[in-house]
Amino acid sequence: MIKVKGLSKTYGKGEAAARALRDVELMISKGEMVSITGPSGCGKTTLLHILAGIESSDSGEIWIGNAPIHKWDDKQIAKLRLAKMGFVFQSYHLVPVLNAWENTALPLIAAGISANKARTRALEALREVGLEEKANSYPSKLSGGQNQRVAIARAIAGKPDIIWADEPTGALDTDTAEQIIGMLEMLNRHHGTTVVIVTHDPRIADRTSRTIRMQNGRVIQGGGGPL
Ligand SMILES: Nc1ncnc2c1ncn2[C@@H]1O[C@H](COP(=O)(O)OP(=O)(O)O)[C@@H](O)[C@H]1O
Ligand SMILES: [Mg+2]
Repeated sequence: MIKVKGLSKTYGKGEAAARALRDVELMISKGEMVSITGPSGCGKTTLLHILAGIESSDSGEIWIGNAPIHKWDDKQIAKLRLAKMGFVFQSYHLVPVLNAWENTALPLIAAGISANKARTRALEALREVGLEEKANSYPSKLSGGQNQRVAIARAIAGKPDIIWADEPTGALDTDTAEQIIGMLEMLNRHHGTTVVIVTHDPRIADRTSRTIRMQNGRVIQGGGGPL
């Protein structure tokens, strides 16, 4: 269960200040697959980054399961992220000098898992996204869809409870986008992984069980009822 209360975030100060999040309230149940939509600049990426502990908030409460991460320091949050979360970005964020399995293994290594075990888990994850035969390929040799599948493998290699995906199909054609969403659906159904997808694409939003709508830093619809 993910619970967010009174979450606010402002970038910059004075005249240049951008109020990215204003008193955001949200509830997402364990095992849900939800989408977050809204106009460009409404705060979707900021919200996802804060929930994943990549960025800090100014105020508010964030509960991930029983963990009050708004009270935690960076080190504790980083540990939780490595153990329980995976993140998929629009632009893949793969390391160009590492091949597919090495990219996939990276967060496992960071979490302190031995190189051998990390390699085995990385190959398993690549198999799950149908890319085992590309394990030794570098990002420059793979298509956009294949690179996004490597990014999903990296996100699932640590067997996370939650996957955050920020416009995961934004750079892909329609058929490839369908494949990527199908993969996230499979993870959600087969492993019970909670999946939260930021998307502009109404066809993708339609495939999730709930759409959370944001506008101007606020959740205006679908936030999950009173807390
Ligand atoms: N690092 C940053 N520094 C300054 N302003 C930022 C930064 N990141 C986001 N913003 C501002 O915060 C608001 C929300 O941005 P963002 O969360 O990226 O929106 P979305 O993902 O919905 O397009 C925008 O006004 C944006 O310009
Ligand atoms: Mg964004």
